[in-house]
Amino acid sequence: MIWEDVRARFEELFGGEGEIGVYFAPGRVNMIGEHTDYNGGHVFPCALTIGTYGVARKRQDKKLRFYSMNFEQLGVLESSVEDLKPEKEADWTNYPKGVIWAFGEKGMKVEQGLDLVLFGNIPNGSGLSSSASVEVLTGFILKDLFGFDVTNQDLALIGQYSENKFNGVNCGIMDQFAIAMGKAGHAIFLDTATLAYEYAPIRLENAKIVISCSNKKRGLGDSKYNERRSECEQALAELQKVTDIRTLGDLTEEQFERYQDAIGDETCRKRARHAVYENQRTIQAVKALGENDVKLFGELMNASHVSLRDDYEVTGIELDTLVEEAWKVEGVIGSRMTGAGFGGCTVSIVQDEAVDAFIERVGAAYQKKIGYAADFYVVKIGDGPVKLA
Ligand code: GLA
Repeated sequence: MIWEDVRARFEELFGGEGEIGVYFAPGRVNMIGEHTDYNGGHVFPCALTIGTYGVARKRQDKKLRFYSMNFEQLGVLESSVEDLKPEKEADWTNYPKGVIWAFGEKGMKVEQGLDLVLFGNIPNGSGLSSSASVEVLTGFILKDLFGFDVTNQDLALIGQYSENKFNGVNCGIMDQFAIAMGKAGHAIFLDTATLAYEYAPIRLENAKIVISCSNKKRGLGDSKYNERRSECEQALAELQKVTDIRTLGDLTEEQFERYQDAIGDETCRKRARHAVYENQRTIQAVKALGENDVKLFGELMNASHVSLRDDYEVTGIELDTLVEEAWKVEGVIGSRMTGAGFGGCTVSIVQDEAVDAFIERVGAAYQKKIGYAADFYVVKIGDGPVKLA
């Protein structure tokens, strides 16, 4: 059991006395609906059985002591519940610190400190939302240790708030929502304009979900992400001069075609086209899945990738290679980049008997073209956060 190792490490570092809680929050993968969540569109993510384990204990003073088994070289990083601010030296602990800060901003001030040891089995920087997993986990732990009256949906919103306001990434709600609200065997069809959602069972008879991790270093990801977001905002402002809409998610494809000339800048027009078409594709894909039409679902995944490559321009040679090589393998139902892009990973639906060939062929072609290896994970859809002990 992984969590027992994490607890043992906690006791080594911080001692075994008092009440110690053991917790888990998943990572997530988005099946379709990319870069729609800050455009009032739909997304279709699911929580995974891989994620972040946390062992925590309340303190009597104001001190925060954090340790990650993924970054052991950083040692124990300390701060205080008073005067929380993002600091470069605080490294990954800016995520839990941000959540503690965000609870305070929402009227739930954390008055006492805590000791926390984390271990994540989500591959680092893979685009499976290790940071949102840490945020939701922290919120879940605060709720349990200090008795705050918050729902899992509140934990998602607080996590997003902390990422936007404390850590400076203008992300949408998808990642934190998928993690906080996860349900085994199901994806979440979420309307990001209203937060109305439905669970849709993922019944892939004779097929698996395979994640291909590009291992590309992220680099400029966050600034490019914020740039895409402003391009969409500019397009929306111009469209609002000619039609009465609140978000790009309000438009059908036909309406977009009718009004698109209102967007002066060609780049902004392409970004908006992706947001509108991707939202409609997501609605169609969930319908297809409900009708057991996995083939159509796969085709829509492929179309999503093309749009992210050509109109949204967030793929890059690494993700394009993984997807284009996947498309060549017989038994691949659909394949696309997932998450923010600019590196990270792809998600593919692959028939059982084709999984080995997929990993072998896509892996070899990637290594040859890119010069380093990709990693592959056959994943399962899991539940949201839990207290394990
Ligand atoms: C990142 C963000 C999400 C979402 C995706 C793109 O994962 O955190 O809010 O915008 O990118 O779909």
